[in-house]
Amino acid sequence: MGRGRKEDSHSNLKVIITEGGPYLVEGGIPLCHETITEDPEGYSNGYACLKKYDIVTSYALCRCGHSRKKPFCDGSHVKHMWNGKETAERTQYLKQCDVIKGPGMVLTDAENLCAFARFCHSKQGDVWGLTEESGDPQKCEAAIQLACNCPAGRLTAWDKDMKQAFEPELEPGISVLEDPDSRAGGPLYLKGGIPVISQDGTTYEVRNRVTLCRCGKSRNKPFCDASHMNE
Ligand code: FES
Repeated sequence: MGRGRKEDSHSNLKVIITEGGPYLVEGGIPLCHETITEDPEGYSNGYACLKKYDIVTSYALCRCGHSRKKPFCDGSHVKHMWNGKETAERTQYLKQCDVIKGPGMVLTDAENLCAFARFCHSKQGDVWGLTEESGDPQKCEAAIQLACNCPAGRLTAWDKDMKQAFEPELEPGISVLEDPDSRAGGPLYLKGGIPVISQDGTTYEVRNRVTLCRCGKSRNKPFCDASHMNE
């Protein structure tokens, strides 16, 4: 885990949102299939690789949820006349998040980015309670770890002066995430500060951890809003 946000040193990497169609991935971004793992009590505790795909320069990932060749687009979005309009706010993360100040650290929380991966709960307690009790170094460390595991970047842990974020050191890559509690799988987990380009040509805020909708049902497109949990 590192202190501070990762700079984007991979300027040719990008995910482009197409109108009513797939995500075009450019720059040879590694793609893998991962599942959320759970501890014996059923709390999310990590990720396990299911498959690594061969690295290719560019590819198209299904955004509508209808492809029969998932995670890749097979053109089914046309038959389904899928709209796929982007609906997410452009407000920067730090302008939309709640700030929870604890004695040993600060937690920021932007609830509308939640992908329901459930890393915010553990047998030691939930991330909000652990933050409030972060005068205890073990609870502080546990809260930081829970926040860093959040794939959506909903949660970010900071030092107590909120000068530096604790971010996991993630190489740029995309995980097609499976969730053992969802029949519809999970989102696309973009790691390592990959720019996401809107249909209008503008770039969303570049962040180390981002989850994109791949079921087509999110009301916060292109971001996952956990709608896959209702499938
Ligand atoms: S976006 Fe093309 S099949 Fe889903």
